[in-house]
Amino acid sequence: MCGIVGYAGTRECGDILIDGLRRLEYRGYDSAGVAIHTTNGVERVRAEGKLANLERAFRDTPLHGTVGIGHTRWATHGRPSEANAHPHMVDGFVVVHNGIIENHMELRDELEAGGDRFESETDTEIIAHLVARERPKTDSLLEAVRNTMAQVRGSYAVVVMNADEPDLMVAARQASPLIVGLGDGENFAASDVPAIMMHTRDVVFMNDGDFAVIRRDSVEFSDTSGAPVTHTAKRILWDPVSAEKQGYKHFMLKEIHEQPDRIIDTMRGRVSLETNHVHFPDMALDDEVLSSVKRIIILACGTSYHAGMVGRYAIEKLARVPVEVDLASEFRYRDPVIGEGTLIVAISQSGETADTLAAVAEAKRRGAKAIAICNVIESTLTRVCEGTIYTHAGPEIGVASTKAFTTQLVALYLLAIWLAQERGTQEPAERIELLEGLRRIPGQIEKCIQDEARIREFARNYVDVHSFLFLGRGMQFPIALEGALKLKEISYIHAEGYAAGEMKHGPIALIDDDLPVVVVAPRNEHYEKVLSNLEEVKARGGRVIAVTSEPAGDVLRHADDVMTIPEVPELLQPLVTVIPLQLLSYCIADIKGTDIDQPRNLAKSVTVE
Ligand code: AGP
Repeated sequence: MCGIVGYAGTRECGDILIDGLRRLEYRGYDSAGVAIHTTNGVERVRAEGKLANLERAFRDTPLHGTVGIGHTRWATHGRPSEANAHPHMVDGFVVVHNGIIENHMELRDELEAGGDRFESETDTEIIAHLVARERPKTDSLLEAVRNTMAQVRGSYAVVVMNADEPDLMVAARQASPLIVGLGDGENFAASDVPAIMMHTRDVVFMNDGDFAVIRRDSVEFSDTSGAPVTHTAKRILWDPVSAEKQGYKHFMLKEIHEQPDRIIDTMRGRVSLETNHVHFPDMALDDEVLSSVKRIIILACGTSYHAGMVGRYAIEKLARVPVEVDLASEFRYRDPVIGEGTLIVAISQSGETADTLAAVAEAKRRGAKAIAICNVIESTLTRVCEGTIYTHAGPEIGVASTKAFTTQLVALYLLAIWLAQERGTQEPAERIELLEGLRRIPGQIEKCIQDEARIREFARNYVDVHSFLFLGRGMQFPIALEGALKLKEISYIHAEGYAAGEMKHGPIALIDDDLPVVVVAPRNEHYEKVLSNLEEVKARGGRVIAVTSEPAGDVLRHADDVMTIPEVPELLQPLVTVIPLQLLSYCIADIKGTDIDQPRNLAKSVTVE
């Protein structure tokens, strides 16, 4: 969850590191720090809180040097504080780390018994102590780091420097992302591409078990045994502008507005205009495996899980394959049964979510094949799966997922249509109609987004409430869950999503004028039933916000506030009903003045359990 950046070159690196951390702040933002080789050895500046605090501290105490490392933290062991902020330093050995050292307690006990004194509550400081202990016994810093990492259990991306070896840093990766950027007379380490892409676009994605010695004019890779490893750099082609706010007040708002274009990107090259066939030219999984699928298990967390729930409806309806959807964090511990012909579809924006990775590993261990629906190119998930359907949403910086969700839905629809096409379970005419419907979606989302000003007006009436209920049926149930998740994560208002049919089995007891109920009721086969649920809420004095198809008709009579969507094919409705819910959450949070892009306690990629 933390962000790492390292630089070895000829330029002053303070600003390079801090600028890189700014682009990684989505990974964690409770404290930050940098350490730089200066004429006095290695010196550090650290600060609790947002990166702005580190920038201020660095301005007050600037450090000058051309080799350094930086870190932005999401606390796992030890509260957010300056003492717990990275880099950690022991006898001139300096470490930044992303991940979790699982055997930190026993290692700490052992080190303390040997006389080591700890300055922080973190698991990371152990690495600095171990490197300091190992270095005198070995020939090189690389060997010391290798011997250290052999003693720790868990996940890590680490970069280590030594005050006595000012021209190099050593990086190591195990189950946490780490890349090396190759420049001209300068080289970089980072957790993610945006941190360094204004300096170089030639990037090596390190593998688990890789070590790298990074100097200004060379990078050498090796494995856990010390054998050299050869990597070919990949050229990053995407545009850095997509990682900027471009005049929007928040990344989340920008990302909501981007959805029409990103959905076009998700479909690009996958739907033939001539034959109206779906194909995945970039997915390296042979057609035979995919078309012999007997059962699909979708694994994901959070918003991606909600996308998976929608995907289940689409795949079962079109391709007639039984689909289960499981929270990755539950699946990995429930001794799952994987029969022959089981295909795992793992969904993740980041491709680094620890639970999703572990669930896929568990399924593969039991013989399943796995494909990923993922946004981040070359992320860990894409490398452990047999094939990937990239969503091409571009960098999503806002912690609350928006464009990642709708592009995941489009990828799932395409997968469902493709399976149906290969298995012959859908009439070609129906496929053509559905694909035409998909092509119209970007324009229809655009139309929903234009409702923002009106939604903002009535959102004012809801900023002081303490709790919301979201109701939906069928494919709108996951949308109700997603609406509730969006609202709670950015506005800090409690919200619960419920299957509308379950309301009478409990939640109806909560209804009074203090609990606004958002009812997702587009015109579809469940419309009448959801309308009855809406009336049941009104009859008990509840306030109703409805999402429905235009013209709003009957709903207008019962709802206090209405958000409409254009007429779209029923199967595709989730792609548009979610838009007003994203905007409602955004407007309520914006009026409340919360930190929308970096809500408290959260981080963009959850790389720990
Ligand atoms: C969504 O708004 C959340 N920030 C969160 O639920 C997220 O979807 C979840 O952590 C899964 O992330 P992933 O898609 O990167 O695996």
